Amino acid sequence: MPRPIRAVVRPAAISANINRIKELLGNVAVMPVVKANGYGHGLERIIDGLREADALAVLEIEGATRLRHLGWNKPIVLLEGCFDQADLLKALELRCDWVVHNHQQLNDLEVLAKQAPAHKPRIFLKLNTGMNRLGFQSAQAQAAIQRLDEFTLKHQWPTPVLMTHFANADEAEPRVRLPFAQHQHQALMGLKPAHWQSSLANSAGSLNFPMLAGDIARPGIAIYGATPGPDAAANYGLKPAMIF
Ligand SMILES: Cc1ncc(COP(=O)(O)O)c(C=O)c1O
Repeated sequence: MPRPIRAVVRPAAISANINRIKELLGNVAVMPVVKANGYGHGLERIIDGLREADALAVLEIEGATRLRHLGWNKPIVLLEGCFDQADLLKALELRCDWVVHNHQQLNDLEVLAKQAPAHKPRIFLKLNTGMNRLGFQSAQAQAAIQRLDEFTLKHQWPTPVLMTHFANADEAEPRVRLPFAQHQHQALMGLKPAHWQSSLANSAGSLNFPMLAGDIARPGIAIYGATPGPDAAANYGLKPAMIF
């Protein structure tokens, strides 16, 4: 017999959390991360709580398709970008923007531009400033930025966003986490062309270093009412999006 456990998903809590994060960040756009089916909450269940967001970020094209079917008309960003021609065509059809984190993905843009697509995506160029997961290494960063800048000007695509990921923003000890986040922020800002925007902060960054978030924050776990670090979500004024 199934155990009688009932989970209740509360879109109103997600909406309140997004507004709380907006309040903490001030003049920063908020792009919640709703990958993996909205961190397991179910995109269809939470969509009404996401309306206040400025954009949404997913990993999978399938997630973007569902968001468009649910009537989401604002930007959608694919956090790992496109991996083949089929992805690229689908991303265009869905009017997605996307992350570029390697040379192959940059080359793919040149091929795409020749097809003069009706939707001109906004590209988020990802730099590896210490997370060591994805992104251009510092030695390649300058050349990649210049190449994308020239490309977007030539084809009149939207001005790109320079992006990185804080590596230890959820570290318990503020004296450890802050200097490294500042170092990453400095590295990114030192390379960012003045007319580009920037995107640095996940949940921990948004909650712990709102002043280092850049122009577009990418909170994930926090919008569902949890924190990645040792401090309780309630201390930040966040409410649980799922209750039992
Ligand atoms: C690039 C990027 N930004 C932001 C996030 C959100 O992270 P968090 O849930 O820690 O806020 C993720 C999550 O995977 C991510 O990959």
